Amino acid sequence: MYWISLLVSAIALANLASGQYVVPAADGSGGWADALGKAKALVAQMTQEEKLNITQQNNYFPRVGEIDRLGYTGLFYADGAEGIRGAPYSSAFPQALNGAASWDRNLLYRRAVAIGQEARSKGINVQFGPGLNLMRIPNAGREFEYNGADPYLAGQAGAEHVKGVQSQGVMAMMRHYIGNDQETGRRWTSSNMDDRTAHELYLWPFQDAVQAGVASTMCSYNGLNGTYSCADPTSLGKWLHEELKFQGWVLSDFGAITFGEEIQAANAGLDSVIGATAPQLADSFSFSAPYPFGPNSTLSRAVENGTVSQDRLDDMAHRIVSAWYKLGQDQNYPAYNTSVNSLSKEHNDLIREIGAKSIVLLKNINGSLPLRKSQDLYVFGQAASVDLFGAPFGAVSTGGGGGFAPNTDQGNFLGGAGSSYVVPPYQITLLDALNQQAREQSFQVYAYLDNFNHTVQAAQAASGEAAGVTCLVDVRQTCGEGFDRPNLTASWEGDQTILAVASTCSNTAVIYSACGPFNTTGWGDHPNVTAILDAGGLGQEAGNALIDVLYGTVNPSAKLPYTLAKDISDYPALPDLTIQTLNTSFVDVDYNEGLFIDYRWFDKNNIEPAFEFGFGLSYTTFNYSNLSVQPSTATVQKTVSATSDDVFECLAIVTVDLCNSGQVGGTEIPQLYIGSPADGAPVKVLRGFDTIGLDAGAKKNVEFQLTRRDLSFWDTYNEGWTLPDGEYKVYVGASSRDIRETGAMKFTLK
Ligand SMILES: *[C@@H]1O[C@H](CO)[C@@H](O)[C@H](O)[C@H]1NC(C)=O
Ligand SMILES: *[C@@H]1O[C@H](CO)[C@@H](O)[C@H](O)[C@H]1NC(C)=O
Ligand SMILES: *[C@@H]1O[C@H](CO)[C@@H](O)[C@H](O)[C@H]1NC(C)=O
Ligand SMILES: *[C@@H]1O[C@H](CO)[C@@H](O)[C@H](O)[C@H]1NC(C)=O
Ligand SMILES: *[C@@H]1O[C@H](CO)[C@@H](O)[C@H](O)[C@H]1NC(C)=O
Ligand SMILES: *[C@@H]1O[C@H](CO)[C@@H](O)[C@H](O)[C@H]1NC(C)=O
Ligand SMILES: *[C@@H]1O[C@H](CO)[C@@H](O)[C@H](O)[C@H]1NC(C)=O
Ligand SMILES: *[C@@H]1O[C@H](CO)[C@@H](O)[C@H](O)[C@H]1NC(C)=O
Ligand SMILES: *[C@@H]1O[C@H](CO)[C@@H](O)[C@H](O)[C@H]1NC(C)=O
Ligand SMILES: *[C@@H]1O[C@H](CO)[C@@H](O)[C@H](O)[C@H]1NC(C)=O
Ligand SMILES: *[C@@H]1O[C@H](CO)[C@@H](O)[C@H](O)[C@H]1NC(C)=O
Ligand SMILES: *[C@@H]1O[C@H](CO)[C@@H](O)[C@H](O)[C@H]1NC(C)=O
Repeated sequence: MYWISLLVSAIALANLASGQYVVPAADGSGGWADALGKAKALVAQMTQEEKLNITQQNNYFPRVGEIDRLGYTGLFYADGAEGIRGAPYSSAFPQALNGAASWDRNLLYRRAVAIGQEARSKGINVQFGPGLNLMRIPNAGREFEYNGADPYLAGQAGAEHVKGVQSQGVMAMMRHYIGNDQETGRRWTSSNMDDRTAHELYLWPFQDAVQAGVASTMCSYNGLNGTYSCADPTSLGKWLHEELKFQGWVLSDFGAITFGEEIQAANAGLDSVIGATAPQLADSFSFSAPYPFGPNSTLSRAVENGTVSQDRLDDMAHRIVSAWYKLGQDQNYPAYNTSVNSLSKEHNDLIREIGAKSIVLLKNINGSLPLRKSQDLYVFGQAASVDLFGAPFGAVSTGGGGGFAPNTDQGNFLGGAGSSYVVPPYQITLLDALNQQAREQSFQVYAYLDNFNHTVQAAQAASGEAAGVTCLVDVRQTCGEGFDRPNLTASWEGDQTILAVASTCSNTAVIYSACGPFNTTGWGDHPNVTAILDAGGLGQEAGNALIDVLYGTVNPSAKLPYTLAKDISDYPALPDLTIQTLNTSFVDVDYNEGLFIDYRWFDKNNIEPAFEFGFGLSYTTFNYSNLSVQPSTATVQKTVSATSDDVFECLAIVTVDLCNSGQVGGTEIPQLYIGSPADGAPVKVLRGFDTIGLDAGAKKNVEFQLTRRDLSFWDTYNEGWTLPDGEYKVYVGASSRDIRETGAMKFTLK
């Protein structure tokens, strides 16, 4: 037998010599040594078939790769950035994008803890979040699953999500790695970005999640420079494993591995798959095709003939099993049972709190809001009530994928559609919550919810005007996985509804629910539109969260995690919705705007947005004073390698005094932006924020710490982070365009 194994290793070596990339094995760095040691001991007892068995999932939900003989429980997966998808008695949380709009790390952490608790209670080992792609385009179908348009904000949110979910012993899974920034042609487009753009934007949030200890990564459907991301030695191997030293495991998105790339995927760093092998460059999934990995697969045959080494297969098993140990899932993990009731009053209250703290107040003139306690109300727009034609109630499939959300795009909006959609246990609509207020405060609610009869809307609104009260208009636009929004306009004649009400009611408050940016042109500047709320997708407590803000029980503090443009063409990039697969090669999506997405583009080109990134009003006012900028006075190294521990060393501290100068208590999100002297750097980039609650008249000193990465540019030539020569500008303010304090700093470099 000896000569056979010699022959096998000779072939493996020959393949290595011929340039076949093989990802480095997990080395236990970053606190994984103990878990890796245990995993190696366990995997050493596995048969070859058992090792192969943990690299694939045969159906959608069942357990992956359990080995009763060894006490290895295997893994159960669950979808859902908004909660546990496809299982009854799961809470429908506000969209991830709403979480980001709160700019509140503690709240993001608590949201994730609650999702982790629900996953654990059902015996789910791996929860498919956080989503860490950036909003390169304003209409991206899945943007509600992500954290907006800025890498720093997305990275902070992603890290809190990982810490929160994993505090419950549940593995978080960061996704969709990397470049799945549009839905149009997601399985046959190639997202082409240069190295600097990758490191300073799209890879950045994933790096923060790795720093937070994320256990798993999901690679995405799209290509990068003409190679599928799940088989890409550069992004999977070099960036994720070599530079970020990721110790966890990589799972393919459902059916993301295509015929012919199985071996390259294994060698690039893919550890496990869900879904059968798919045709190349097509939209279709195959449910009957063979599996790329697992026993009796291309992978198993490749290991036999040495094109994938035994070491690589062992490393796949080590990575998966070490994550199981790292999260403590070897000890008393609850049995898998999706029917377990994971609901609780605490989670309902938390969902309401996240909701209220994620509603961005965009406009509020003449004291339109908060509403007076006992005034009568006139309510318009079918989004204020339930969806009569496709209500998101109904049977939940526990075995299969679960609901994809109603597709009627009407009624109370909970969140975007697709594989992250959680069927809510119940939903509180705006009308429900207002009716409850009327019951308690003894006033009258007049509601006219037909969106199509603008004559009646105007006549009813005139009655509101005569009564001297606020007219509330609730509109929405949905979005979902699998398509990008063709426009940013409200559904069901929402714009015409706003205009009809505002034509006769001089105090019209608009409540707008959507998956991201929306179009305010045509009604946002209307003098009778006195208030605008960007509600996003609030989950099951939508109405309660809204009345908390409408009545000022919660003083709004959320800020836009993206820019609202006046004209659609003001954005740096839009997807070509007409493209078709070429079947023979990827369709290129070139990231020509490079570093300049969202506010960076508007700043560079001096474009006036409707509402800028970081903007959001409060019922009080804040003033900023006494900016202090303290750069390191030591001589600091100019360039460090990507893998250096110094990437996250603190190089400067910025402080500012924040004072609540208004009449009521409130919370401000002071934001720190840096203008780097590096060649080609944006005017300013977000590099700090905090969430500061202050009573009226109270004051606090706020501190921001800047790391080397925050201050460096990605140096493609040296493959590291480099501090530029010259002076940095330091901006602190209430939004990306409302800068209150300005300073500067320099470093002495060696
Ligand atoms: C492979 O995993 C499945 C569950 O996905 C399990 O039922 C089966 O027993 C495993 N087979 C081996 C050989 O371990
Ligand atoms: C794609 O190509 C660009 C330009 O050559 C390069 O900078 C980048 O690293 C490549 N990305 C990947 C994932 O190969
Ligand atoms: C192995 O897979 C092939 C298809 O790839 C299938 O035809 C064959 O039946 C399988 N063998 C076993 C033992 O499952
Ligand atoms: C090894 O096996 C794989 C999977 O069957 C096959 O694609 C590949 O061509 C084989 N390579 C060699 C050198 O035999
Ligand atoms: C799953 O949980 C439900 C609800 O608690 C319970 O009724 C059922 O018996 C459980 N199933 C198993 C197999 O334990
Ligand atoms: C609007 O409603 C009024 C009153 O019911 C009705 O007379 C009118 O025809 C309706 N208009 C439209 C366009 O439906
Ligand atoms: C926006 O797109 C939707 C969905 O395709 C379409 O029904 C609607 O007419 C469009 N609205 C505008 C203003 O173009
Ligand atoms: C604003 O509302 C008032 C009161 O109904 C109305 O007279 C006026 O025409 C409205 N303004 C506009 C621009 O529609
Ligand atoms: C706001 O109130 C002032 C003073 O009452 C009034 O002059 C102005 O027209 C109002 N503006 C709007 C948009 O209603
Ligand atoms: C809003 O709609 C108008 C009219 O269709 C259009 O010109 C404009 O580009 C749109 N703006 C945005 C941000 O979608
Ligand atoms: C790609 O293949 C599909 C399915 O065979 C076909 O309908 C389509 O026309 C092809 N596209 C091109 C650009 O050839
Ligand atoms: C900020 O507001 C406080 C409270 O109203 C006031 O005492 C202080 O002078 C203000 N500071 C600045 C710089 O405006």
